Amino acid sequence: MTPKTFKIKSFGCQMNVYDGERIAELLAEQGMTASADDADLVVLNTCHIREKAAEKAYSDVGRLRRDDGSKPLIALAGCVAQAEGKEAKARSAMIDMVVGPQAYHRLPEMIAEAARGGRPVDTDLPALSKFDSLPKRRRANPSSFLTVQEGCDKFCTYCVVPYTRGAEISRPWADVVAEAQALVDGGALEIVLLGQNVNAWAHDGRGLQELIREIARIDGLERIRYTTSHPADMSDALIAAHGEVEKLMPYLHLPVQSGSDRVLKAMNRSHTTDTYLRTIEKVRAARPDIAISGDFIVGFPGETEEEFEATLQIVDAVRYASAYSFKYSARPGTPAAQMEGQIPIEVMDERLQRLQARITDNQLAFNRSTVGLGTRVLIERPGRRAGQMIGRSPWLQSVHVHTDAKPGDILDVTLVEAGPNSMAGAVRQREAA
Ligand code: 5AD
Ligand code: SF4
Repeated sequence: MTPKTFKIKSFGCQMNVYDGERIAELLAEQGMTASADDADLVVLNTCHIREKAAEKAYSDVGRLRRDDGSKPLIALAGCVAQAEGKEAKARSAMIDMVVGPQAYHRLPEMIAEAARGGRPVDTDLPALSKFDSLPKRRRANPSSFLTVQEGCDKFCTYCVVPYTRGAEISRPWADVVAEAQALVDGGALEIVLLGQNVNAWAHDGRGLQELIREIARIDGLERIRYTTSHPADMSDALIAAHGEVEKLMPYLHLPVQSGSDRVLKAMNRSHTTDTYLRTIEKVRAARPDIAISGDFIVGFPGETEEEFEATLQIVDAVRYASAYSFKYSARPGTPAAQMEGQIPIEVMDERLQRLQARITDNQLAFNRSTVGLGTRVLIERPGRRAGQMIGRSPWLQSVHVHTDAKPGDILDVTLVEAGPNSMAGAVRQREAA
């Protein structure tokens, strides 16, 4: 039976969110409609970065069986699909299609084949062809994602991305600029440029800073952000843009992963704590108020107590405005999974708790330092309480505001109260979006 309704469930990173939106647009163009529940077709857009990703995906598939024993058409998409490939069909008879992150533009043909009883698999990694065959962007969120770069050539020894997303590829300049314009035409006020290694974006001799400067010229676009960046690709030219491009928001996500040089080497990170800290200094010289954010892994194979303490120290040295921290998770096929000295889970749990406490202290200190400031908040969604809306400050803080403003409005707000994870703001005056 040809499906008429669809539902997409995306897990993992922002690039998966972006892919989920593009898949929805593609299916809508085929005449299908989105449905909150009991859809004819379910696309599970999976993530493989940590923990028992594949097992979780198969159990999610299992739960799609309906009470009467029937099931929707099921497409396993995303990074687990890429990693499992044909294997997925053998492991679950419920899966009708397996489609990797670089092949989902082929979903319409695959759905037709599945509706005829076939079980197509496409985990090719063709160079960017998917973008050429996706429909043009029409509607956009106030803050919209735009993938400009995919894949990774860095091969950090813990990471599965080079295997699931393939080699590092930059989308062409003109395509990205056209998509940015289409998003603004569709209502976007903020664009977040995405890539696994977004600051390595390059096309025809131009770098990310030039792309940012070009997109900043689009009338009606208020804010630009980009994520995620690798410290080794943080060029002086990009740093300079932080001091010069008004629409580029004062926020930088620059993962360090560990505060120990020995661990960084074993991770194949190609930076040291010293080069990282010097980069942060340069960024702060260009944009003194910038909010720095990062990622950390605790319990990398062989990590000693002293090495872990060095990670606590770098958190204080950088004064992170926010940070994400994870327990090391051995990914099949990565070099670190074979290393000696895998750390027991209790040790990882304990280190993660201490790290998170330290991060929380730093977040609170950063947030407190902004109390009293007048700033602009881009409203994104309703809050939990009546009359409350949540938006983002330039520093990417979540700001709770009592207002009758709508998503997409930009308010002049005074930040009045700080918590570790959010701010309260008071409206100064309303502005039309
Ligand atoms: N185990 C734990 N955390 C990981 N990350 C990536 N791979 C792993 C892994 N195998 C974390 C890194 C990265 C973030 C997206 O996920 O901190 O920056
Ligand atoms: Fe997860 Fe990485 Fe795939 Fe994003 S690219 S969904 S983080 S495995």
